[in-house]
Amino acid sequence: MAMPSGAFQSGHLFVLCNSGSERALKAEVQSAGLGWRSGFQARGMVAFKADGGTFGRGELEQSLVFGRRVCLSVGKANTQAEAESMVLAAVGEVRWHRLRLEERRWSVEAGGDPDALRDGEAVGTVVALGPEEYWVGVHWHRAGLSPDPGGIFGVEMPEDSPSRAWLKLEEAVRVFGLRFRRGDVAAELGCAPGGVILALLRRGVPVIGVDPARLAEVVMRHALPSVPSVDPAGDPWVVHCRKPAALVSKRDLAGRATWFLSDMNQSPAVAIAECRRFAGMCPSIHAALITLKLTDLGEAAAAGEWLGAMRAIGFRDVRLRQLSVHHRELALLGTGRRVG
Ligand SMILES: C[S@@+](CC[C@H](N)C(=O)[O-])C[C@H]1O[C@@H](n2cnc3c(N)ncnc32)[C@H](O)[C@@H]1O
Repeated sequence: MAMPSGAFQSGHLFVLCNSGSERALKAEVQSAGLGWRSGFQARGMVAFKADGGTFGRGELEQSLVFGRRVCLSVGKANTQAEAESMVLAAVGEVRWHRLRLEERRWSVEAGGDPDALRDGEAVGTVVALGPEEYWVGVHWHRAGLSPDPGGIFGVEMPEDSPSRAWLKLEEAVRVFGLRFRRGDVAAELGCAPGGVILALLRRGVPVIGVDPARLAEVVMRHALPSVPSVDPAGDPWVVHCRKPAALVSKRDLAGRATWFLSDMNQSPAVAIAECRRFAGMCPSIHAALITLKLTDLGEAAAAGEWLGAMRAIGFRDVRLRQLSVHHRELALLGTGRRVG
């Protein structure tokens, strides 16, 4: 008979990450002093062994910047059926997430409706690494974890999105459980051509977009010449501040911004400094989502400084994650800032 699902222990766990982030993941685990010893590695996956002990559900609570999905390893099998029967024997019934790595690309084969996944539900992840190589692991869903198989964002970008940045906003909403409130206004630095703006407008959020470059017609259709003090009836609006972020003044924000967003091609230090300046100019800013652009993932060694800088701006809950649609990027989220 299977033991109670949550009591399952394993000598190994495996972590799924973005292809190319394996080394950054191992460095993160090492510098966190978790006592996880890295072993087998494939593109987008690293297995770890417990340093003299076993892994349990507690290890799955570990929040990793580069770990999209952490699974307690149930074992390895030659067929999918065998892999799944190992999970059934170890933890009982689970929801299945099935993934395949083929020709260095990951694909999702099955996962069910991600919106139907409930907190605490057990998920069995079967990873096919070759025709006769199935790795299988288990985790329990909770807030802050992607409900998508392997944490690979499963929503298609709309055809009229002017850029892939639409995916970054939507995946952040899904992974972090972001909620936009009535009255929210987003100030987005580095907003052109407008994929993030389109996502925000469709979520009902008006946008003050800052970028010297042009915006696509699909968003300019909603443009107003200046920030209104009272929202006009109808669709949410966008105001394009067509200049570099450093030239934006308090007057451009009209005291209305409540979210700070940045997707500028600038260093983390510049993006965070602008966040601090905007929060000073506009005390109604209660949350920030910054896409940090890295030249090398090794720069993530400065994660502690970035999180500390966000706390110093007043964000009480700060998080840093690499999303599945990111390349050399990370999402830095700050929420819970007391508004003035
Ligand atoms: C990755 S693109 C942004 C994509 C955009 N968020 C979207 O949703 O389509 C980066 C943008 O940052 C802008 N940028 C770079 N430096 C900037 C600065 N100092 N101030 C404002 N925008 C800047 C560039 O002009 C470019 O349009």
